[in-house]
Amino acid sequence: MTGIRFGILTLSDRSARGERPDASGPALADLIRSQSWSVARQLILPDEGPAIRAALIEWADSGQFDVILTTGGTGFAPRDVTPEATSAVVERSAPGLVEAMRAESLKTTPHAMLSRAIAGIRGRTLIINLPGSPKAAVENLQSVLPVLSHAVQLLKDDPGSESSH
Ligand code: MTE
Repeated sequence: MTGIRFGILTLSDRSARGERPDASGPALADLIRSQSWSVARQLILPDEGPAIRAALIEWADSGQFDVILTTGGTGFAPRDVTPEATSAVVERSAPGLVEAMRAESLKTTPHAMLSRAIAGIRGRTLIINLPGSPKAAVENLQSVLPVLSHAVQLLKDDPGSESSH
């Protein structure tokens, strides 16, 4: 399927303050565009639950995005609140995606166990948490890339999607 529309939300206190350039958002955008998909919007926010929830709700309910990727804030540090903010706004969870990401990442690093990332669905938008480092974010997205077209077709209730099982 062509034309998956992505939003990329980078969660980092330091990047939001302008103290560190956001490398993860652009790295994810490059990977998405290399698949001929589109990045409709990119935003950097600090690790603040209410702001993250508000952005996810606004984006998901706008109908402008098929998939929202978050990067950062999934670890154990006290300000890592992305999974909680995401849980609060999704209506249905999609654990298989994060199970696959962690399983694949564990082949490279035991630190994969430290990602608390979740994935879920709000309306017709899929939200996936990714870790914060550019390398980890790209590796994790690569793990689920092969199923995203089908996931988005199913979310759109596209009758043609059944034939591609
Ligand atoms: N996944 C992959 N593929 N490669 C990595 O290097 N780093 C891990 C993990 N997932 C990593 C990874 C580390 S060190 C942490 S702390 C968690 O993701 C959470 O990262 P975050 O706090 O930046 O969101």
